[in-house]
Amino acid sequence: MNKITLAIETSCDDTSISILEGIEVISLKTFSQIKNHAKFGGVIPEVASRLHSEFIFKIIDEALNDSYKKIEDIDQIAVTSGPGFVNTLQVGILVAKTLALVLNKPIYEINHIEAHAYSPFIGKSFSEIPSKAIVVIVSGGHSEIFLKEDWEFKLLGKTRDDSIGEAYDKVAKKVGYNYPGGAKIDEIAQNYEGKEFKFPISNLEDFDFSYSGIKSFFLRKYNENPELKEPLIKGFQIAAINQIINKIKRAIDKYGVYNLIIGGGVSANSYLRQELKNNKEIELFLPKLRYTTDNAAMIGYLAALKIENKVIKKTNLKLDAKPKEKI
Ligand code: KG4
Ligand code: ZN
Repeated sequence: MNKITLAIETSCDDTSISILEGIEVISLKTFSQIKNHAKFGGVIPEVASRLHSEFIFKIIDEALNDSYKKIEDIDQIAVTSGPGFVNTLQVGILVAKTLALVLNKPIYEINHIEAHAYSPFIGKSFSEIPSKAIVVIVSGGHSEIFLKEDWEFKLLGKTRDDSIGEAYDKVAKKVGYNYPGGAKIDEIAQNYEGKEFKFPISNLEDFDFSYSGIKSFFLRKYNENPELKEPLIKGFQIAAINQIINKIKRAIDKYGVYNLIIGGGVSANSYLRQELKNNKEIELFLPKLRYTTDNAAMIGYLAALKIENKVIKKTNLKLDAKPKEKI
């Protein structure tokens, strides 16, 4: 019989709970705190952890109702242990430990970034996941590129300064859009049919990214002439996304791996999706839009997959948040 997993994700500003039967998601409920953080222009961890504490049991209730399961039906608990904010991770972990203790069920800890890497396969069996792939995780907190071989991830490069999502959000804030404004910037860039403003090209030799340069360039040029808003936004989008595409091409050349997995909030970007789909050399694995942002379905799915393949052990009740955890 397929086991029922209750999965918990609280690493940042989404309180997310998912119920899975085997590797199938049967419910997913997420309370996004975005509105509560918008006025600060970014996530305030103390505010986020209070909101997680306030809403997590309501979200668990809703996810259970949606799945037609009761709390007693849960066979195992999966929880994000890191990376993320220590205070917000602790809320999810404390709830996971309490449920495990009361229900006498095992807990499995899951790495948030690794879960993003598996998000394109949610609901799919292990045999459908490529064993070798280039993995790119691009979000508000991360811009990283890995080489995945079976269950191992080798970090090839990461951002040296801002993450790509952070740069998008700062550009959006500058032109007056609410946090997080990445999707809005993408929309403006896509709809503007004129020529883009040319941005400096990042020339880092390895697999690292850098976003503070193009972000500052945007802010400076926009201050000089706000009427250039659309061409500047389009130029920023092209410069930001081309950096990712160039690193992907470099990784393909170096490792001869043509499978590409993309995860994280910025994987929703229309220019990125379009450019990658146009590249016939690449076998592309993208998450469904509802699984691009932070969600507990990816946490539960990865736990179920690892349990099925016997590559994960249950965690004991000493589990604590690992804010800087690597894959
Ligand atoms: O993965 P995610 O939901 O949360 C983090 O772990 O950070 O990513 C959110 C980030 C935000 O910075 C948001 O502005 C950005 O993803 N984002 C986008 C798009 N949609 C969301 N950035 C560029 N283009 C988009 N279409
Ligand atoms: Zn994330």
